[in-house]
Amino acid sequence: MRFSSLTQRIAGEGSDAWDVHDLAIKRRAAGEDIFLLSIGDPDFDTPAPIRAAAIEALNTGRTHYSAIGGEPAFRNAIVEHTRRTLGIDVVPEQITIFPGAQAALFGVAQCLFEHGDEVIVAEPTYVTYEAVLGAPGARMIQIPLRPENRFHLEPDALARAITPQTRGIILNFPHNPTGACLTASESAAVAALCRKHDLWFISDEVYASLGFGLPHQSPLSLPGMMGRGILISSLSKSHAMTGWRCGWAVTPLELARHLDHLARAMFFGVAQFIQDAGTVAVGEGSADLERLRATYQRRAEVVVQALTGVRGMSVRMPDAGMYIFADIRATGLDGKQFARGLLEAEAVSVTPGEGFGPSGAGHVRITLGTSEERLLEACRRIARYTASITAPATR
Ligand SMILES: Cc1ncc(COP(=O)(O)O)c(C=O)c1O
Repeated sequence: MRFSSLTQRIAGEGSDAWDVHDLAIKRRAAGEDIFLLSIGDPDFDTPAPIRAAAIEALNTGRTHYSAIGGEPAFRNAIVEHTRRTLGIDVVPEQITIFPGAQAALFGVAQCLFEHGDEVIVAEPTYVTYEAVLGAPGARMIQIPLRPENRFHLEPDALARAITPQTRGIILNFPHNPTGACLTASESAAVAALCRKHDLWFISDEVYASLGFGLPHQSPLSLPGMMGRGILISSLSKSHAMTGWRCGWAVTPLELARHLDHLARAMFFGVAQFIQDAGTVAVGEGSADLERLRATYQRRAEVVVQALTGVRGMSVRMPDAGMYIFADIRATGLDGKQFARGLLEAEAVSVTPGEGFGPSGAGHVRITLGTSEERLLEACRRIARYTASITAPATR
């Protein structure tokens, strides 16, 4: 039987990034105690008031088809949340609820791009972007975030990548895997380029609430950007709700109408009880949210402290998020060799930086979704493994 050419375009999901993780999962399933620091799934339980809201909704019959684009109460809560966190005024009709930010990215790319379009992304790149852009036939154009520049966006590189075929830019700040944020001037430069070249701008901000000091700068907050801008967000990382599959896109009204059609054709709305829980989650003043953020900050500090001074390794505090992107180039190994060897020798699973793109070479991503105690033990093992490596003479 024949399959559509789409199946080819969605198949190339950065497999390098997952090889070591898949091996670790197999070993864990076989009963080994593996330190699984290779997936961005928080270890926290979803906060109790959010769970209670879902249970209440289930017990009161909120189990029917939902409004396709989103339940009114949840959309209203996101309007408030967008105003509070980004200073952007939108109306509920600009919001489309999706089963997670991933689905929102996919849906938005379907409605904006097609064969022959170029879309610029920063590299290291979150691994699913290639398939998200490949699905509608667009070309993903990567610009490097260089380790020498602390993985910050370089507006000149962005400007150089723009061609007559460029239709849009997708940026993810705070950034997975490097933890870099945009500065105010980088954010202004992005906005200026989008205006100058009349580009769509998609801002994937799933880590926006996990900042460690620097204020979150979104180009979408700048004048005129919501006419061409799309905010992608979700509850997965901020509220430890990865398995609930609840995210959204805030877009210009016309795009929201197209997304409504796409949602109708594809998943027919997100469950009412999930959206009721979401309404509580994005409501103001959740102490749980601050607790999660502070815990990630503390874990990041603990890991950075534990790995600082380890020969062959260089780590620094990320600006935000739930990852440490450790530079292991001085060991003489690449990220994949290092991660494989570490799993083999010490039962610690981290993600090779190469899986995110060439600028991630010689780095490994360490996820902070594990207790401080286990992170410390993992760091001791990483230090022991790193010390045991002899650099090949060829490098
Ligand atoms: C940068 C980025 N965007 C999107 C997603 C997908 O998030 P969600 O669980 O809301 O689909 C992730 C998940 O790891 C991510 O890291």
